[in-house]
Amino acid sequence: MTTHPHPIHWHIYADSETVEAAVCARILQSAKTAIAARGEFHLVLAGGTTPRRVYQRLAIADADWSAWHIWLGDERCLPPDHPERNSRMAAEAWLDQVAIPRAQIHLIPAEQGAHAAARHYSEQLAGQDSFDLVLLGLGEDGHTASLFPGHDWGESTTAAPAIAVFDAPKPPPERVSLSAWRLAQTRALCFIVTGASKRQALQDWHTGIPAAAIHPAAGIDLYCDAAAGEGLR
Ligand code: 6PG
Repeated sequence: MTTHPHPIHWHIYADSETVEAAVCARILQSAKTAIAARGEFHLVLAGGTTPRRVYQRLAIADADWSAWHIWLGDERCLPPDHPERNSRMAAEAWLDQVAIPRAQIHLIPAEQGAHAAARHYSEQLAGQDSFDLVLLGLGEDGHTASLFPGHDWGESTTAAPAIAVFDAPKPPPERVSLSAWRLAQTRALCFIVTGASKRQALQDWHTGIPAAAIHPAAGIDLYCDAAAGEGLR
């Protein structure tokens, strides 16, 4: 039996609602642990649509928001108020409804263009050694954040913390992403994957998809519903 050097901790639930409840509970517990240990909680948000209902659950949760720091795993190079911005989705679903200090919500200034925004965010990240929890989605082609097949994923320890992405196959073509190396600098990392459309990407996990290039020391936790992951663990 082949043992993979980077094991996946599977968390498979019957449907997307129970996945969302489990991920919300995991985030809140991670926050309590981090705040008790270090007085603050550094969370990296996933973009796309899957995490929206997790963020909506957080919007009505009870937490010590004053100690939370929010980072983004990636951002689309669009105007700040564009409906397709990942920051806009998170703000509408959650961040605009809780009292996380605005100075602790570290958005990617992707409206500056990919190169300038990546430089800016890399400078901001230089002051933060490790995250407490990274949330990531999964594309049908195995991409995560804005790390796409056929592109540079920034796996090397010398990779910039944030990288400029052009010609992304998922619109918009210009984006900024945390590098694979920087995403792995975290105490915990959770993928949130729901729906039958993501099943093939999970089956292809060990064939070298971008999502599988991220190797946090604690391993990765994969939260998925049966439609995406039943029988694959
Ligand atoms: C983005 C996301 C991207 C997303 C996956 C899954 O900016 O598009 O960061 O990595 O997480 O494409 O997207 P869905 O959750 O919408 O399926």
